[in-house]
Amino acid sequence: MKTLDAYQAVRFDHDSDELILLDQTLLPNETRFLRLREPETVREAIHVLRVRGAPAIGVAAAYGYLLAAIAAQSHPADRFRADVAAARALLASARPTAVNLFWALDRMDRRFTAAAGLTNDAAVAALREEADAIRDEDTAMYRAIGDHGLSLLRPGMGILTHCNAGQLAASRYGTALAPIYRGQERDSNFRVFADETRPLLQGARLTAFELHAAGVDVTLICDNMAATVMGNGWIDAVLVGCDRVAANGDVANKIGTRGVAIMAKHYGIPFYVLGPTSTIDMATATGRDIVIEERPAAEVTTLWYEKPMAPAGVKAFNPAFDVTDNALVTAIVTEKGVARPPYGESLARLFA
Ligand code: MRU
Repeated sequence: MKTLDAYQAVRFDHDSDELILLDQTLLPNETRFLRLREPETVREAIHVLRVRGAPAIGVAAAYGYLLAAIAAQSHPADRFRADVAAARALLASARPTAVNLFWALDRMDRRFTAAAGLTNDAAVAALREEADAIRDEDTAMYRAIGDHGLSLLRPGMGILTHCNAGQLAASRYGTALAPIYRGQERDSNFRVFADETRPLLQGARLTAFELHAAGVDVTLICDNMAATVMGNGWIDAVLVGCDRVAANGDVANKIGTRGVAIMAKHYGIPFYVLGPTSTIDMATATGRDIVIEERPAAEVTTLWYEKPMAPAGVKAFNPAFDVTDNALVTAIVTEKGVARPPYGESLARLFA
């Protein structure tokens, strides 16, 4: 597999204390790295999707938390703790759906609480360690997701994916794309179809970009062509990522995922959801309890066009995610193994 080291989504420079983010809003036309020093700019980067994809959002937020602690390090202990708490609340407000954001902030909170009796410097050192740990646990985990996913596939298969759940969203192998990259290392020769993923085009700008750069056979399609490629018999499996999986196996992922799952069911194509166990939220009972982010109408009407492609002032509805009913999900693939229905039991076993 060609690694896209030149396109690493999230890094931290411990010499300059800067979070280095690849600005994904500019891909595929421009490769620009941002060097951020304040939690406010980290929040902005998450909010406008300069960094996006559930796991990458979690890592970026952990470093945003660390930056807040570094900035407040010289203050008296009570102000130090108050500043970090305020930054934590700010980061948590960046996006509502991906549970990894809250999971990562909770981990940083626990580490900060455990450091309560220590000096500010020692607390910052502990937070530095925790943010690095959240980042470093990634690669082995995504390799495992890739291998579990690969066990469900056969060489030469046609695979459809939606949005971007690859290296740009979750370091190295990604989640939904991990079996494709692991398969490439074994000459599996998958033929991948990438939905462009309206309105923000993560499939076109990011998935097609990273798979093409890695030398994977990828064909870009508009979202409304998925039924055609399925009907043509070109798709043997659907692989998608997830932003939050409820305890009953309902899956929140990029808007359009539910439609893909319904079509896959119609054509008898297995629909696999891939993600780390940190994306499974056992505290959320069903998909109905998941908050769906709603984004500005301009993303639908004007954002990608030189001229507006909708009449001025027309209403537009722009939910960023949808929930796929667990009945449409063939299996949920995690680093700990493959969960199958009934998910109430199989997901609980992953945490046992
Ligand atoms: O709005 P985005 O680009 O953050 O949405 C990303 C997705 O929906 C991904 O499929 C999901 O976060 C999984 S990334 C490994």
